[in-house]
Amino acid sequence: MTDVDDLTDDIFDKIRAYIYDRAKISLGDNKRELVRARFGKVIRQRSMSGFHEYFNWMVKDDTGEAFREVMNAISTNLTSFFRENQHFQFLASTVIPYVAKNPGSRVGGKIRLRGWSAGCSTGEEVYSMCMTICENVPHLDAWDIRLLATDIDTEVVAHGQRGLYLKDRLQDVPTATIKRFFDPAKDNKGKPAFQVRSEVREMVAFRHLNLFSKWPFKHKFDFIFCRNVMIYFDRPTQESLVGNYYNVLNNGGYLFIGHSESLNGIKHSFDYSQPTIYLKH
Ligand SMILES: C[S@@+](CC[C@H](N)C(=O)[O-])C[C@H]1O[C@@H](n2cnc3c(N)ncnc32)[C@H](O)[C@@H]1O
Repeated sequence: MTDVDDLTDDIFDKIRAYIYDRAKISLGDNKRELVRARFGKVIRQRSMSGFHEYFNWMVKDDTGEAFREVMNAISTNLTSFFRENQHFQFLASTVIPYVAKNPGSRVGGKIRLRGWSAGCSTGEEVYSMCMTICENVPHLDAWDIRLLATDIDTEVVAHGQRGLYLKDRLQDVPTATIKRFFDPAKDNKGKPAFQVRSEVREMVAFRHLNLFSKWPFKHKFDFIFCRNVMIYFDRPTQESLVGNYYNVLNNGGYLFIGHSESLNGIKHSFDYSQPTIYLKH
């Protein structure tokens, strides 16, 4: 029998500390019911007696399974295609033309473009980048384009990799865009869905990555989207993350943050370009 009423102050604080230490996500006092609901589900699935048993298992586990499960349970994955569309317009109007003209982007006879969706959730953000690029790059063959999409939640990464979305997730995507970039499909319950075409999926590498683990990148990026992710972090964490983004961008590269986010009050080396868009000179 599961008893999720045994979420004592002590266990709640220890779970919060576990999550903060590893993923830097700050859970305020008001997140207690969220923790109860999200973990209640996994505790029941594991047929454990309650939070005490779950916590004891979680801290002893050294296989990575507990960390994965905790992060999958606690992460908030809200996203949509062409969310905060001005960013995709800026990609088309400014980033792509800059890279096309920049002699530094010519590598091996092609124009190299590298982008990163950091905190990609189920992939709508990175596929919106792909569609924007395909619609605004005149000769795709002349380009070497690779996008990276990473998230701490393994389930959303797997979803993104598959690129399958229920029909109502595409309501903000123009019909012509759907026709060009998606194939009609069904989900595993037989509901109408669309799958991103393989040639678009091939532009993206989805990876499981905690933003606070070591970054394994060989190349720098021309743009990074880290939108609606930093809201979960405290200021010192945001500051160090923004500094790390600066270091992995090419000169002339851009950082995009969410519309409700700001770098005000954070020490950083970016130039302000537009609200929520920052340039590395
Ligand atoms: C609200 S979603 C944002 C999705 C997308 N960027 C957008 O704006 O539509 C936030 C994502 O950040 C991820 N996330 C949170 N903390 C993270 C961390 N420490 N490392 C990597 N991803 C993290 C969550 O798993 C979640 O999928």
